[in-house]
Amino acid sequence: MSGEDLNKYRIAVIPGDGIGPEVMSAAVSVLQAMEDQSGKFGFEFTEYMAGDAYKAKTGVAMTEETFEAVKASDACLFAAVGESAKEVIIPLRQRLNLYANIRPAKVYPNVPNVKGQMDMVIVRENTECLYKRIQDGGPDWGVALRVITRTASERIARYAFELARREGRKKVTCVHKSNMMETTCGLFQDCCRKVAAGYNDIGYNEEIVDACAMKMVMFPERFDVMVTTNLFGDILSDLAAGIVGGLGMVPSANIGDKMAVFEPVHGSAPDIAGKGIANPIAQILSAGMMLDWLGQKQAAKVLEVAVIDVLKEGKTLTPDLKGSSKTDDVAEAVIAKLVNKTN
Ligand code: NAI
Ligand code: MG
Repeated sequence: MSGEDLNKYRIAVIPGDGIGPEVMSAAVSVLQAMEDQSGKFGFEFTEYMAGDAYKAKTGVAMTEETFEAVKASDACLFAAVGESAKEVIIPLRQRLNLYANIRPAKVYPNVPNVKGQMDMVIVRENTECLYKRIQDGGPDWGVALRVITRTASERIARYAFELARREGRKKVTCVHKSNMMETTCGLFQDCCRKVAAGYNDIGYNEEIVDACAMKMVMFPERFDVMVTTNLFGDILSDLAAGIVGGLGMVPSANIGDKMAVFEPVHGSAPDIAGKGIANPIAQILSAGMMLDWLGQKQAAKVLEVAVIDVLKEGKTLTPDLKGSSKTDDVAEAVIAKLVNKTN
């Protein structure tokens, strides 16, 4: 294929802190291997420094130039930052209006999990709720404002139903706490109900967040697509991760109308950073979600199948999956499974 036909995506890469650079290097090497083999598309990766370490050096966690560069890229692959998450990933989500945070949680072969069954997608509202960070406090008090609007709630509900339709899923569950928070969760619930009425082909139900947490553990097979507010989505997506085998397994996408940032659900994991033992699968699957969003749907499928093949084989697993392999070994194993699949 000639150079002109090649679809070259400009990817902004933010490795961040802790295990971030370790899992990012694994994911980038997998994407590079896909590029080498397919000839149909390519990547131009540009790395940007942001996060705790960058802030310690420069005083800011993310520069305005980096923000602008991410905005101007075709997509951004993000790993994780530490305590400065609120100064890096939260502004990226809010300022780029990446309103839909998509967090699939699925049981994969050979991955120790709670019940053997779960294949759900959490659709988390990504721009408001307590993450607006409108707050005040003194030595003995604190107050935070929870912002929920009709526009954002209807938009995320619609996204959830469209996703269900696109992926052939059967049901959307609205998760709320409207019995306690009428003005915020009540509004969110009302928006979900109104949107649901326009999708007769997709089932709809509601769960109160606390009972929902219990049901996710006891009856994970009952969940399909979940739509919820920002903080609940944050908490329940880590819970879902725990059910399917841990934070090393779950990817995510922050999607807006024109731009998207892809990142694992996990953070910088300081407890295992620097040891080369972080599971890169969440980051690799996030890269797969990026391929899908860029329109390379076949490549995204091929990548997931390669990951599944590695898991099935069970020889190259990191310690969180009861193996003894290193981060880079997993990347190499995935690349080996990709051979001859991308053409
Ligand atoms: P965490 O997600 O970093 O780690 C929680 C637990 O999961 C740890 O025991 C860790 O070792 C394990 N874990 C996470 N990813 C793993 C992987 N790929 N392979 C194997 N094990 C993995 O959450 P934690 O410890 O609460 O937060 C650490 C830092 O990360 C904090 O400073 C927090 O602010 C930041 N953070 C950043 C996020 C972001 O950049 N989007 C998201 C979540 C947390
Ligand atoms: Mg989180």
